[in-house]
Amino acid sequence: MDNSESDSSALQAVAGNGLLHRRIFLTRGAALLGATGLGLLTPKLATAQTLPELSNVPGAALSEYGTRSVFEDSVKRNNILSYPGTTGSGGSWTPLESLEGIITPSALHFERHHSGIPAINPDTHQLLIHGLVKRPLLFSMDALCRYPMVSRIQFIECSGNSRVGWAPEPVQKSSGGLHGLLSCSEWTGVPLSILLDEAGVDPKANWILAEGADSAAMTRSVPLAKAMDDTLIAVYQNGEKLRPSNGYPIRLFLPGYEGNASVKWLRRIKVTAGPTMTRDETAEYTDTRPDGSSLMFTFPMEVKSIITAPSLGRPMQGAGLYEISGLAWSGAGKIARVDVSVDGGRTWGQAALSEPVLDKAFTRFRAAWRWNGGPAIIMSRAIDESGAVQPSREQFIASKGLKRDYHYNAIQNWKVAPNGKVSNVYA
Ligand code: CO
Repeated sequence: MDNSESDSSALQAVAGNGLLHRRIFLTRGAALLGATGLGLLTPKLATAQTLPELSNVPGAALSEYGTRSVFEDSVKRNNILSYPGTTGSGGSWTPLESLEGIITPSALHFERHHSGIPAINPDTHQLLIHGLVKRPLLFSMDALCRYPMVSRIQFIECSGNSRVGWAPEPVQKSSGGLHGLLSCSEWTGVPLSILLDEAGVDPKANWILAEGADSAAMTRSVPLAKAMDDTLIAVYQNGEKLRPSNGYPIRLFLPGYEGNASVKWLRRIKVTAGPTMTRDETAEYTDTRPDGSSLMFTFPMEVKSIITAPSLGRPMQGAGLYEISGLAWSGAGKIARVDVSVDGGRTWGQAALSEPVLDKAFTRFRAAWRWNGGPAIIMSRAIDESGAVQPSREQFIASKGLKRDYHYNAIQNWKVAPNGKVSNVYA
């Protein structure tokens, strides 16, 4: 990047309706935003600052475990939905529209439980590894935690995330309300391959079965190759022990795979010759094709992105210069590129990817938009390192049909009205 480039080139349009070149976020562009007086960075000219009243009195006491500011109390999980007659079987959605960066706070991680959250005492919990192994092994949590651990920042997405995209009319919810069965954390744990090597996997083995200690006994089959590759027995999330709603004291963590297979409250792993064909992978979590047949064991979550600002519930504040901010991710690896359109997909410009860009993690992207105050449709399209391109809703439904329940990854369109209001639209 050449710093001698003029202000006008930093504000160069790269696509229709005022989308600007991403270089504005790559160098000293942000200062230019202020200098141009176009309304993105709008501090008042300084005269004097009033001394805050609170600076005259001592503040609150120290505490053993922190809480956020009371002024942030409105940032909550969306759509707490549980099945009739239960309080813990259902889901809650991460408020993606209120967050920045790539880490989801543990307290706002999405939830999806099939029979509530068990209260497991780690002193009595055990992990069994058995089946096609030379030596069946039983681990206490203390014994497990003596193995070497690794940490990775990776997303987890429910395979049913964004399923409202199949609704005949667009559902009017925030980006988190529509797509928030999705979170990204730093996960720390023991690579499963170490434990399987110690147990001694039989050459006839090709799969594992993982079972949770919850009363739904969530049970999924996973290919042995994945178990030996990057699978973790996760113990920590964002630096502290897992939250109960994320599988405390341990969960299976399968990077890039549909969330349901990363079995929480893990109690046993059985090494098997083939898949076990459990209820949770036959009656559910299969993909119905247009001809009525079903695909089983579709694990990786496909390339996807959403704009979180502006978005429904985060309106525009009048014509001027804006940062578009969003998230991209793929179960196939790293995000290679994100394109943004502010004219309904007629023209596209490349977004800036904020570092770090990690394998199977959220990638934050940003684009600069000089909004003229007219109606606009904004959208993002992600491309991953395998070359997979996020489809439009039209393309997605044409190839996958309307009978599915899982793996919806089509482009999200937001319509911006002249009054700044943002709504969900198709095409
Ligand atoms: Co699937």
